[in-house]
Amino acid sequence: MQSTKNATNKTASSPKCKKTRATSQQKKQGLSPRSKDPVLNRTTFKTSREMDFFSEKELKNQTAHNIDEWPLVIIKELVDNALDACEEGDIAPAIEVSADATGITILDNGPGLPEVTLQGALDFTVRTSNREAYVSPCRGAQGNALKTILPMARVVDPENGQLIIETLGKRHTIRCGCDPISQRAVVHHDIVDLPKCKNRESRNGTINQALSCGTSIRIEWGARPNSEWPFGDHYPHDDDFARQFRELVQGFAVFNPHLSLTLNWFNKRTTWEATDPSWNKWKPHKPTSAHWYELAHLERLIGAYVTHDRDHDSDRLVSDLVAEFDGLIGSQKRSKVLEDAGCHRVKLSDLVVGERLDSARISGLLKAMQVHTRPVKSTRLGIIGEDHLRARLLAMGVVPESFQYSRKESKDGLPWVLESAFGWKGDESEDWRTIISGANWSAAIKNPFRSFGATGEGLESALTDMRASAFEPVVFILHLAHPRVEYTDRGKSSLVVGAKKQGLS
Ligand SMILES: Nc1ncnc2c1ncn2[C@@H]1O[C@H](COP(=O)(O)OP(=O)(O)OP(=O)(O)O)[C@@H](O)[C@H]1O
Ligand SMILES: [Mg+2]
Repeated sequence: MQSTKNATNKTASSPKCKKTRATSQQKKQGLSPRSKDPVLNRTTFKTSREMDFFSEKELKNQTAHNIDEWPLVIIKELVDNALDACEEGDIAPAIEVSADATGITILDNGPGLPEVTLQGALDFTVRTSNREAYVSPCRGAQGNALKTILPMARVVDPENGQLIIETLGKRHTIRCGCDPISQRAVVHHDIVDLPKCKNRESRNGTINQALSCGTSIRIEWGARPNSEWPFGDHYPHDDDFARQFRELVQGFAVFNPHLSLTLNWFNKRTTWEATDPSWNKWKPHKPTSAHWYELAHLERLIGAYVTHDRDHDSDRLVSDLVAEFDGLIGSQKRSKVLEDAGCHRVKLSDLVVGERLDSARISGLLKAMQVHTRPVKSTRLGIIGEDHLRARLLAMGVVPESFQYSRKESKDGLPWVLESAFGWKGDESEDWRTIISGANWSAAIKNPFRSFGATGEGLESALTDMRASAFEPVVFILHLAHPRVEYTDRGKSSLVVGAKKQGLS
């Protein structure tokens, strides 16, 4: 210690040190060390990541869509959530999408949005999802959508923008703002009790018994001249925009035989009745399969559970985790898995060594789970089916004789089902080509199959090659069910499709 002190003193009196002192004096005076030119001594500031959600530019990055497409983002994300929630509650979904001069509302008959999840969504420093860490064919998978929609109202209308959520007997009115000095989120969240569920009136004044419980989410802005919407240049009455809006909503009716869907577009109602309310598909509350996971996925899930348990002063057994997987609920099989993996009476926290997950042990566990279970057959994911697609296409004006349907599914490896349907609207039709495409029963805003195959050219050019160009009155439907869909962007607008990534051939 002493010697260090001496050494320091020695340096302090050296000529080199004099030079250093001169330099810092120069800096203090705002002069460059070499010349007398002024310099800026930058200070490193910390800015809250919350601001990633509070400007048009940042929300554009988060959603991967320009502001004029945000009404479509709202529909897609909120209908996705509504469907996932209904399926999770084993409820045949009935959803109403309403658009009026001052807002867009999505109403579902699901089990309700828990307050704790809503509070999580309002914490812009974390992601909140009951789907993100699991590998499964769900619509939502990132825990980001609600977070982007919450501040959207305020970004498009800083004066009057708000989100109104009615669920589980409460009305939440949420106004998100931002402190201009600290650049931190300021959230005003008012909660009031709703009158009894049965008598609840929807915001646009109609009482719909079927939808009287569940969740209603309304993004609202102030009234504007000519009923304009505050999303870029888009007037809601522009024909092209109204068509896009309707086609997106219709896409959900096309991909979901169990869904009863109503679009209330400025008091003009269109309903697509469910063709099969008890339609069977893989639902979000069904156990996931060990065969859908690679090591990195299982590590992510274990990491998420360990963190959750630490926050709740608990520590579950590996056995409890294993029991959540398809085919491993029975104690006999679970016992074999635990024995093979050396995890009898082992706690999840024991799979953490120092600051890291024990990859070798987790890899052994995954292998054992895969050895002792059967892979899930593709058909268990859910088949939309020829009858449903025929009904929807004929309702769109397709000539019955022109209807064609095809289905492909994987024979081994990861399960997947690819369904397509085609129809022609006849010579007299003035319509152009309609493409409705999507993955895991969710309609896409833009065709997500924009690049695939050896040439990477994508669906549009493949259709043009088949003489179904953009000007032909044809309808083409393409849907992929897959437990591990990967998107290139957070807006879920472009799928990674290829033999290697998806196991598709
Ligand atoms: N209508 C709803 N009813 C019940 N729960 C809901 C509803 N909407 C959202 N949730 C809950 O809120 C969570 C967050 O939704 P959010 O859309 O932000 O994320 P996600 O759906 O998990 O993933 P993604 O960001 O890919 O959409 C969901 O995981 C779900 O638990
Ligand atoms: Mg979602």
